[in-house]
Amino acid sequence: MEKYIINGENKLSGTVEVQSAKNSVLPILAATVLTDEKVTICNVPEITDVRNMIRILNCLGCRSVFSGGNVTIESSCADCYEIPRELAHELRSSVFLLGSVISRFHKAKIAYPGGCDIGLRPVDLHLTGLKKLGVRIKEDNGYISCECDKLTGNEIMLDCPSVGATENIMLAAVKAEGITTIENAAREPEIEDLQKFLNRIGAKVSGAGTGTIVIRGVEKLGGCSYLPISDRIEAGTYLIGTAMCGGEITLTHANAELLSSLLHKLRENGCKIRIKDDKIYLKNDRRLVSVKSVETQPYPGFPTDLQAQMTALCCICSGNSIITENLFETRFKYAPELRKMGADITVIGRNAFVHGVPKLKGATVVAHDLRGGAALVIAALSAEGRSEILDISHIDRGYSGFEYKLRALGGDIVRASV
Ligand code: EPZ
Repeated sequence: MEKYIINGENKLSGTVEVQSAKNSVLPILAATVLTDEKVTICNVPEITDVRNMIRILNCLGCRSVFSGGNVTIESSCADCYEIPRELAHELRSSVFLLGSVISRFHKAKIAYPGGCDIGLRPVDLHLTGLKKLGVRIKEDNGYISCECDKLTGNEIMLDCPSVGATENIMLAAVKAEGITTIENAAREPEIEDLQKFLNRIGAKVSGAGTGTIVIRGVEKLGGCSYLPISDRIEAGTYLIGTAMCGGEITLTHANAELLSSLLHKLRENGCKIRIKDDKIYLKNDRRLVSVKSVETQPYPGFPTDLQAQMTALCCICSGNSIITENLFETRFKYAPELRKMGADITVIGRNAFVHGVPKLKGATVVAHDLRGGAALVIAALSAEGRSEILDISHIDRGYSGFEYKLRALGGDIVRASV
């Protein structure tokens, strides 16, 4: 097991190039199973979830090369439709493979997916959508087994705008017979990115980014080289961290449009923010003013994946804040860890009530999930004294070169074995 050792109170200043979006790269990797042609995905982050997704593709018989930040996948020799439990458990995105593996083999068998322990994380909407396309599904002994004679387009209405279910149905529908319509589809930018990738290899998908996505089935797909969108959650994490520590940061390969809800809040907190082309510039040299409330919502609302980081910031603002988590049932597991650092935070159901304190104090804390872990890191960087963040394997799932980028900004952070 590894940990971070952090000595806080250094200001953060400098430039960070934002990685390609983890939550774009993962469904795009799953989509490579749909074509026999070679696909290269560029500027791919070196993170555990990507490496595990590539391991799963190798397990299916795909050939992969991950070098120089690019991943090349060739699926022409894929010959297996089963994903072993130990791999499926590693990440939530393994479930996306249901759609593309069924499309290729008309069969699929996968253990229930893993991913951050932030709530129940059911897959009922995924399975209901696949059934509407003609898939027969059996769930037993922790496995989901699927088969179909063929995939036929249909009209699908999602009970809630699930990102994963939207993506899974898109992947299953691109080579189905006829037209598939997804109503109440998720609108996240990563779904628009998946649509752009699929159309680049010859699919006929439209409407991503709106609540209605239309997929016209095609016979065959090609190959391409593709640069995914930048990671709005990684970008937001560095912006919030700099706001907390004080200093000034320039993000490159960033897209401010995808972060408008966060930028609005940070300006309300008192940060100075400028935007030019693919750069976001943030400066803060004073104690922040609290925002009264932060409510997570599906895109374009405030992203649930920045909730923990924003709550950490609220802990050192002047004034009180209420943070409401509307998407996941248990996404405040980091709160007791922040209390060890002197935060005045009380969680009742889906609400966290925060009374800002001037400064947090270093402590030994435990990361319980990816974004909660990142929130503890930026809290420790802003805190007085020494902190240790344990079980940082959660953080390695989604942030490439986290300690290197933070050290380059002036943060005092090292990785050590426990
Ligand atoms: C994706 O997870 C992201 N993961 C999550 O990011 C992100 O928090 C989430 O979307 C919301 O934006 C990836 O893209 C790999 P959902 P996903 O299905 O697809 C309910 C991170 O930190 N639901 O949109 O699992 C579910 O319980 C990760 O990078 C059902 O009820 O999220 C939740 O309340 C964490 N039935 C809500 O929908 C289903 O079949 C949103 O979940 C599916 C979901």
